[in-house]
Amino acid sequence: MRYTIMTTMLSILAVSIRQCRGYLPHHHSTQIMRKSAFTTTTTTTSSSFRQQQQSKDSLSAKSTTATTTTPHALLQCRSNSVLLAAAAAADNILGTPATSVDDGKRPFEITTPIYYVNDKPHIGHAYTSTACDVIARFMRLSGREVFFLSGTDEHGQKVEQSAEKKGIPPQEFVDGVSQNFKDLLELLQITNDRFIRTTEEDHKKSAQHLWKVLIEKDYIYKGTYSGWYSIRDECFYNDSELEDGKAPTGAEVEWVAKEDSYFFKLSSFEDKLLDYYDANPDFIAPQTRRNEVTSFVKGGLRDLSVSRTSFKWGIPVPDDDEHIMYVWMDALTNYMSAVGYPNTEEDSEYSKFWPAAVHIVGKDILRFHTVYWPAFLMAAELPLPKRVFAHGWWTKDGEKISKSLGNAVDPVGLVETYGVDQVRFFLMAEVNFGSDGDFSDKALILKVNNNLANELGNLCQRTLSMVFKNCNEAVPTEIGAFNSDDEELLKSARGLYNRCATEISEQAIQKYANELIEIVWDANKYIDKMAPWALRKTDPERMTTVLYVIMEVLRHVAILYQPIIPDSANKILDLLAVPDDQRSFEHLVGDEYQIQLGRPICKPEGVFPRIEVPELVEAS
Ligand code: MSP
Repeated sequence: MRYTIMTTMLSILAVSIRQCRGYLPHHHSTQIMRKSAFTTTTTTTSSSFRQQQQSKDSLSAKSTTATTTTPHALLQCRSNSVLLAAAAAADNILGTPATSVDDGKRPFEITTPIYYVNDKPHIGHAYTSTACDVIARFMRLSGREVFFLSGTDEHGQKVEQSAEKKGIPPQEFVDGVSQNFKDLLELLQITNDRFIRTTEEDHKKSAQHLWKVLIEKDYIYKGTYSGWYSIRDECFYNDSELEDGKAPTGAEVEWVAKEDSYFFKLSSFEDKLLDYYDANPDFIAPQTRRNEVTSFVKGGLRDLSVSRTSFKWGIPVPDDDEHIMYVWMDALTNYMSAVGYPNTEEDSEYSKFWPAAVHIVGKDILRFHTVYWPAFLMAAELPLPKRVFAHGWWTKDGEKISKSLGNAVDPVGLVETYGVDQVRFFLMAEVNFGSDGDFSDKALILKVNNNLANELGNLCQRTLSMVFKNCNEAVPTEIGAFNSDDEELLKSARGLYNRCATEISEQAIQKYANELIEIVWDANKYIDKMAPWALRKTDPERMTTVLYVIMEVLRHVAILYQPIIPDSANKILDLLAVPDDQRSFEHLVGDEYQIQLGRPICKPEGVFPRIEVPELVEAS
């Protein structure tokens, strides 16, 4: 199979754009545009969000007043002043639409699961990481303070066995494999703020602290465990859960006979959990997953074995060296240890970010996050994460991905073949976030060629080439009045942020991508209808107006595409000569930052090379 990927062309383009941008004035003073052309009407799906935005100025005025009239005594208290400053800062940000679990302004902790280091990274790891990255980038661009956490889950029997097979000590083994995960995140341009490893001393102390709290509160007791255990899932199963002698996941199970063990009193949390799900209907998403979890809990909860003695690779149980902590109890604590737990002082990272805004997990590990984790936290009287979102699984060419089938999809190979933005875009835009999806090279090529190369790429190319050739290598200096077609498209572009933000605040990543794809369709229909190439001779002023409208639409599209395809979106913004410091979502509100008339632009070059694979594309 021959792939023609024009990576060299892309790097030449990047260099030439950088050179070109060197002489572009960042704050061009020609503001000939009639201000009235841009009224700030927005179409929005969330009325509370609309109100938030419309009253942004009055809010910031209010927050100044609040600070100046705050009693002096309060300001003398350090922690209070930190909190006040944070509240004032939050008032001033654009933020995202409020939901039942998020006010749209507060510091936002988002987490990937921490990955097992027993094997190479695969498409599932790339998927969760990219999804979290898109949400984290979106939140940052909306002005929110973000703590995006990822890392590796390095203890447990599975890891110990993998190290044994290699004949190296477990620590040496995990150091090597953990690095592969770090490298993958870098390759995918994941912007995690921290990469936590459960073998770090601080994390161990944090997990041991939680253990001690649970002992003090009398939720952990010592007993003997007999039952089924799956090493692959690192999970205990009841007899009734087994199917044909295997775990419901298909994993082998082994009988653990009378092992001394500490138990967590999970059985006392049945009603508390059910009440919690009832009172917080958006805690588990999507809704279908919530029903699954609820029926699991209604089926009855037994106390959970939370320590092991038959192997050594884990965090020692405080005051009992014979035992190590159950790997899931150790692993789940990472979400808090990463923000400094047990330091819960008012000015700590913990108090800023905890409870996490959202844990993104695969559907297979939902039980651990929505039953065990909340029960541990309730027992310790700590706040629960606001939301747990379970995404679906990828199959490959219609088949379940498994070691035995040898059909794992290597994300590193994908990025090397197709490019990082192409892979990120496909993973995010192909499948509804929450549903299963099927991976095939053909599907990726078609999606990328259609939505990026043909639709967005060509729209940029034909618009900017016309501007460059016919308007003196600059944004037109004069344009005419907008007609109803222009107004309609511009209105849609001005409402785009609200539509995307509404989707992302529900983790509806594919729907957010579709908003962008659809407005590009509309812009292509518009350019075909307006045919600026025909207007060049007959009505040059109308031509410049049409080209201007598309450039302004592209500015909205590219700014909003940054979380999904960061490099390509920024290349488009370079081509549009949008200054670096005007690429946040706040620059989409109002008319202050619209495309500036008369600003010089570079000679446009393609942003998305078509992926040429005749055998695959012709067969479609
Ligand atoms: N270590 C635990 C998580 C502990 S979090 C406190 C773990 N690790 S894992 O490496 O096995 O899985 C990481 C993630 O990859 C999970 O969310 C899992 O659902 C996801 N995926 C594994 N295979 C997948 C696909 N084929 N498709 C999509 N995601 C899948 O579980």
